[in-house]
Amino acid sequence: MTTTDTNLHTGAGKTAWDDGLVTEDAVEAGAARLLGILNDSSAALLASVGHQTGLFDVMAGLPAATSEQIADAAGLNERYVREWLGGMVTARFVEYRPARYPHAAGTYRLDPALVPSVSGPGVDNLARMLQYVTLMGEVAGRIAQKFRTGGGLGYGDYPDFMHIQASDSGSVHDASLVSAILPLAGCVDRLRAGIDVADIGCGAGHAVNLMAGAFPASRFTGYDFSEDAVLAGRAEARRLGLGNARFEILDAAALDVVEGFDLITVFDAVHDQARPAQVLHNIHQALRPDGTFLMVDIKASSNVADNVGLPWGTFLYAISTFHCMSVSLAQDGDGLGTVWGVQLAESMVRAAGFGTVEVKELDEDPFNAYFVARK
Ligand SMILES: C[S@@+](CC[C@H](N)C(=O)[O-])C[C@H]1O[C@@H](n2cnc3c(N)ncnc32)[C@H](O)[C@@H]1O
Repeated sequence: MTTTDTNLHTGAGKTAWDDGLVTEDAVEAGAARLLGILNDSSAALLASVGHQTGLFDVMAGLPAATSEQIADAAGLNERYVREWLGGMVTARFVEYRPARYPHAAGTYRLDPALVPSVSGPGVDNLARMLQYVTLMGEVAGRIAQKFRTGGGLGYGDYPDFMHIQASDSGSVHDASLVSAILPLAGCVDRLRAGIDVADIGCGAGHAVNLMAGAFPASRFTGYDFSEDAVLAGRAEARRLGLGNARFEILDAAALDVVEGFDLITVFDAVHDQARPAQVLHNIHQALRPDGTFLMVDIKASSNVADNVGLPWGTFLYAISTFHCMSVSLAQDGDGLGTVWGVQLAESMVRAAGFGTVEVKELDEDPFNAYFVARK
């Protein structure tokens, strides 16, 4: 292998690249990787549309079919569907069989091996996660400006976020909240007997309503500073006829309850706080002496080097840059970011006054760590 003579370094100082380790092959591999990323990120956007429009669900239930048949079954415009199918064929999501005769239509079939990953309502449907890629693309230009000016974008700049987040966390909660997550926190007997529970940063409130339905003797309050979120929570509670779930618009940094709750939960809503230490302090104060704090937050390391092997590490730093860190910085906040990491998270929970903090994992939810803390 020969070292490249292209001008890869222009500065006066010696760089690591000057050590002669950069070969022509390595440069070619780098370029090929970038082209792969161009294709894969394009596939991500197409697949996100496949999820949003229901195309994947429709195709999961169809045999090999023409673009007209697929568009008809999905109630969509055939020309768009055919172009989308082209991208899905080249991305190897969909198998294409050309017609045997000229002018006849070829057929498309969703790769059966991908059906569980792109269709259905359950946690296995990872196409749901690709909506975050669309969301990041929508704000990319404005976030790039923040690299110069500092600050961030407010929650109002992400009109689809609550819906995407609710569908993401909802799939995990439907599958595991009552059967696995609450047992992890060791609270099920007390929930059955009847206790006071708060969920901070409750979003659209599905977790609160699920718990309220499962434990009718307990009383649940969901707090969020988003009016839309609180209205969504109340609407679902009404629809389900729940008399033990209430929702309140409140900034968690201003929560001023003293020993009012036996269990406080926070699902993925501490790392994007403007003032996370204040919120954790308020939670500690709001818990009764024998109460439990369950904080669910991203499972990653506080040390970037440890995250290189994390399969979704890049996604986490991206969603942080484009949303979670940004919404905190927009409020002149700490900007912890999505990847604040388990080490920092644990130390901040302890610093808020909790005497014991256990960090647990759940097979069904590889993205999150489960912190169970007691006074
Ligand atoms: C990432 S979402 C999580 C929502 C929900 N817990 C879930 O798992 O779907 C974070 C939520 O926290 C809310 N939030 C952020 N900071 C808040 C604060 N200081 N007080 C109240 N709610 C806050 C946001 O409005 C948003 O609904």
